[in-house]
Amino acid sequence: MKRASFTEMNRILLIGATGRAGREIVAQLPAGGVRVRALVRNPQTAGLPPHVEVMRGDLTVPETLDECLTDIDSVFLVWTAPPGTVTPILERMARRARRIVFLSSPYKTQHPFFQQPNPIRGLHAEIERQIEGSGRQWTFLRPGMFAANALYWWEPQIRAGDVVRWPHLAAPTAPIDERDIAAVAVRALCEDGHDGKDYVLTGPDSLSQREQISILGDAIGRSLRIEEMPPEGAPEELLPFFPAFIAKMLLGAWAAALGQPAFVTSTVAEITGVPARTFREWSADHAARFRV
Ligand SMILES: NC(=O)c1ccc[n+]([C@@H]2O[C@H](COP(=O)([O-])OP(=O)(O)OC[C@H]3O[C@@H](n4cnc5c(N)ncnc54)[C@H](OP(=O)(O)O)[C@@H]3O)[C@@H](O)[C@H]2O)c1
Repeated sequence: MKRASFTEMNRILLIGATGRAGREIVAQLPAGGVRVRALVRNPQTAGLPPHVEVMRGDLTVPETLDECLTDIDSVFLVWTAPPGTVTPILERMARRARRIVFLSSPYKTQHPFFQQPNPIRGLHAEIERQIEGSGRQWTFLRPGMFAANALYWWEPQIRAGDVVRWPHLAAPTAPIDERDIAAVAVRALCEDGHDGKDYVLTGPDSLSQREQISILGDAIGRSLRIEEMPPEGAPEELLPFFPAFIAKMLLGAWAAALGQPAFVTSTVAEITGVPARTFREWSADHAARFRV
């Protein structure tokens, strides 16, 4: 394993620094080790540490990238904005940055869970196509399910009572801790050897959704009643948790995942030298969020 070299000469622009992966990257880039700038839509509410230079910018307004890209070597890119400005944004990036690390998804992985119709895969494929054609160094990170989805999916129910209703409880995934996505991102941003690589990143264990909820219950010291939500009513019942198109996408992926273990890689350990964190570790470290 090669150690990441942190140098003031490496100037990094983070796009998505206020998001789940981005905040962990900020936490792992050492203050004083590299120069970190964050492009954010709202600097007043960004809540980033003082060593991060915060600049206003918006992926839907390409001109706002120009100042943010001044003197930047490496860019970390998350794209959750509408797709209309992908080309002008990536053109700007290609003119100014030497290296782009893009947070994508495992849509090329031949496992049924990752092969279902999904509007986001087309966007990720198009961004990757343009980055590959840019002549810049690039690395694509392809995480599976984020462990932090538990905060959006199950936290509201666990805080409200002891019953968690969810569809396809037998469907397995291998949730990855956002800190491990960030650890790989930091290396791709700070050390050589990752150009032209794409990394499928998962947690270490295939766990059914029922097992994941039960692990959360253990972490907070409560016995949760886990109820199967019938898939036919799920599109409506899931609306409080995510938009209808995400519900459709996830229901298809969970249904396809039934009956075989989740896809598990050891990429986090190979890149960082440290095994990926388990969902039990993630749950213990975030237990306070689930307590009333
Ligand atoms: N969740 C999963 O299980 C999973 C699995 C695989 C891949 N992914 C991929 O991971 C990505 C999401 O990563 P995440 O969860 O870390 O992000 P996130 O928590 O959803 O945060 C999105 C980030 O993008 C920023 N952003 C949104 N619109 C923007 C715009 N117009 N201009 C500039 N910045 C903008 C947000 O900044 P503001 O502060 O301005 O809102 C925020 O920092 C998605 O592409 C998703 O497909 C997710």
